[in-house]
Amino acid sequence: MQDITVRQMDFDFPERMDPVIIPGDPEQSYGTIGLSLLLPYLEPYLIRTMKQAKKQIRDPELLSNLEKFSAQEGQHYRQHIRFNDAVRSFGFPGLEALEAELDADYRRFSQTKPLEWNLAYAEGFEALTTAVAHFSMETGLEKLSHPAIRDLLTWHMVEELEHRTVAFDVYQHVHGRYLYRLVWGTWAQWHMARWIGRAAEYMLQTDPRSDTEFGGAAGRKARQIERRKAGKGLLPRILKIYTPWYTPHDIPMTEELKRLSARYTEMAVRTF
Ligand SMILES: [Fe+2]
Ligand SMILES: [Fe+2]
Repeated sequence: MQDITVRQMDFDFPERMDPVIIPGDPEQSYGTIGLSLLLPYLEPYLIRTMKQAKKQIRDPELLSNLEKFSAQEGQHYRQHIRFNDAVRSFGFPGLEALEAELDADYRRFSQTKPLEWNLAYAEGFEALTTAVAHFSMETGLEKLSHPAIRDLLTWHMVEELEHRTVAFDVYQHVHGRYLYRLVWGTWAQWHMARWIGRAAEYMLQTDPRSDTEFGGAAGRKARQIERRKAGKGLLPRILKIYTPWYTPHDIPMTEELKRLSARYTEMAVRTF
């Protein structure tokens, strides 16, 4: 039985938060915020997809994992909405149109795409977050300026790792075609990355400090070089998810991850 704990959290976000949550790195800050803005649309879509898949699952253990997966995702986006609101108070009116577009996309996917497609999308996201979460936990999230945002992301990553096998197992149980998952899972990653990129670019352009405090184009280029160097270890993990022998069951819960799981269980308002 997979060890998945659903935790209801209550992080202490300030009412207003400087969106440059990684001091001196506006690109990575706005990229992270872009992901956070995506989640209140993506995660309810994952839950809808799982609800549909549930009808076809006969394995009681997988059914129980699916329920916990959906319950964890339901908690994630609720906390991200609170963080997103704190950032939004900084003033980004153009986000509304971008978010409306994303909302329409996910509603359309639920209404018009076959279950196999939606499950391949879900696993495309889960496989990528598992790789990124594992890498980020190893390289550390200390750069984040505010303890509440550090906890939000760490807690979210810990739970993504706890339920890392569920979307994969549901896809395998219901359909299981490798090439189909590869194509649409990769398309899903492109779809999410494109939206996050557009949202981040908009916020960067809107932030008056981009050309002053953050050094304009030259500053951006220098930070890009640094980021590439720091992100080198991530590439092999990402490439692995495209291989036919990839399975999230091979990814271990390290002692450090278990320690963090216990920490957030303790911090939770309630667990179930
Ligand atoms: Fe999540
Ligand atoms: Fe997830």
